[in-house]
Amino acid sequence: MKFLMFSATSRVLFYHVLCLVLVTSVVSNNPARAASPQAEFSRQGMVASRSGWASQVGADILAKGGNAVDAAVAVGFALAVTYPSAGNLGGGGFMVIRLADGRLITNDHREKAPLAADKDMYLDAEGEIVEGLSTRSHLAVGVPGTVAGLLDVLAAYGTLPRAQVIQPAIDLAQRGIILDRDLAQQFQRRLKDFAAYASSMAVFSRDGQAWRQGERFKQPDLAATLKRIKKYGKAGFYGGKTADLLVAEMTANGGLITHEDLLAYESKWRKPVTGTYRGHTIVSMPPPSSGGVLLVQMLNMLETLDLGTMGYGSAASIHAMVEAQRRAYADRAEYLGDPDFYPVPVARLISKTYAAQRYADFDPQRAGVSSVVKPGKIPLESMETTHASVMDAAGNAVAYTSTLNLSYGSKIVAGGTGFLLNNEMDDFSSKENVPNFYGLLGRRANAIEPGKRMLSSMTPTIVLKGDQPLLVTGSPGGSTIITTTLQIILNVIDHGMTLNDAVASPRFHHQWQPDRIVHETYAFSPDTRAVLHRMGHQQLFTIPAFLGRGIGDANSVLRTKEGIFGMSDPRNAGRAVGVPVTP
Ligand code: GLY
Repeated sequence: MKFLMFSATSRVLFYHVLCLVLVTSVVSNNPARAASPQAEFSRQGMVASRSGWASQVGADILAKGGNAVDAAVAVGFALAVTYPSAGNLGGGGFMVIRLADGRLITNDHREKAPLAADKDMYLDAEGEIVEGLSTRSHLAVGVPGTVAGLLDVLAAYGTLPRAQVIQPAIDLAQRGIILDRDLAQQFQRRLKDFAAYASSMAVFSRDGQAWRQGERFKQPDLAATLKRIKKYGKAGFYGGKTADLLVAEMTANGGLITHEDLLAYESKWRKPVTGTYRGHTIVSMPPPSSGGVLLVQMLNMLETLDLGTMGYGSAASIHAMVEAQRRAYADRAEYLGDPDFYPVPVARLISKTYAAQRYADFDPQRAGVSSVVKPGKIPLESMETTHASVMDAAGNAVAYTSTLNLSYGSKIVAGGTGFLLNNEMDDFSSKENVPNFYGLLGRRANAIEPGKRMLSSMTPTIVLKGDQPLLVTGSPGGSTIITTTLQIILNVIDHGMTLNDAVASPRFHHQWQPDRIVHETYAFSPDTRAVLHRMGHQQLFTIPAFLGRGIGDANSVLRTKEGIFGMSDPRNAGRAVGVPVTP
């Protein structure tokens, strides 16, 4: 309950530590971190995700002749079983697809505000935010989009029947998985959060005790929900028994989601955000994610400099990247929101002309000051998420990021369904210029409105070289998602790193407000820190070593002349699985 008592100011102070711990779900002394694994290799296809079970499901689907879309959808359902802190049926996500014939597609299955939502729903009588209401209550839950999105994508671009793609997730839920250290530690750590909800304890504890490593973790209610989806498709989730259980959970506990909300939910096909960077094509997610727009905007600014010559990790290159981040995140707060409700000026924000104007005051010697860096003047016309990357041998590629928002979302299992509900409503701007959990600010563009999608930072991205997919990447990490994705791309393109190095290299992050650079323990050498200080970067915040982890979880796939490499982020316990070569 302490969290509920934090004032808005203390939220800002604590958010860096909290979001970096919580959004990526597990604080662990993860052995994977000490020994950075080599990338997996295959010529037949590759899946990299936060869960080895889920990656194996995807690789098996590819091996049986499914395409990358079939595999990504199967991974999405499997993650709901084997990585419940972020994989989900009760949340939302974005998928970016490049088909072998060159078509570029995105599917938006972001959660929506319930029809009864109101812009002041998290404010008290004095107009102050009621702490915790948008993160830890039934009012925090947005209308889930994942099931609609996965099934729409499968129907449109998959090749295998729904039953075949969902069955592996059903098997994992029904037969159970032997808990590894990673998951057992997560459940142990979250037990006190789940304790507030009998329905959550029924899944995530064994008679009130924490599950232990080596025990078989079965999820019969989740298996039953998945079977209904397998049998009835979207109607098995947005209607029938699943919908009845979800609405009953809401009605009994002051939540807003109704049958009408569920029946009205639709995933959306959106035109991808595209840009170019040093001869490569960047394909990423448009609003309601801010990810693609900010990524392309920052790349446009940085393309004017020679980061490769400046050198990876040099104070000069870090400074240049931080200044691009400062400007892009200032624009995020002003201009980004759900395009169905607010005229987001995407074309202008991602134009090279605008980037040149926006970066014109960049001083290579001197840090900007966020309090004086305002959102750019565009012409008037206008902690948990998870990422999986998939590529098949034919040249289909899928970048998929999915979320419940914070780790285990609202911590509430909808009674009898076996799945957790998101707390995505916190991604709206509950009050102008008051930070959300990630310290992000927002205004009118991202205010709560009935049926609106909350602004996201998820950045599933495909980089093309010529007309072929080169890199599939993305990450969890709330506000740090976009800068993590940026760094992977720069590491590959500007610094010529292997996939191992590009994913494992230390990361940093700046988001305009608060005006500070957050960085992983070994990201900056003492002399780099000294140079950055002299440039005016006064606040450098090191993620404490005791947290044992870092920024993001960028499970990525890279195609080279040799074949396809897959790398799960060594900061966590994911796995990349390649399709074995058939004799
Ligand atoms: N919930 C994190 C995001 O969508 O940005």
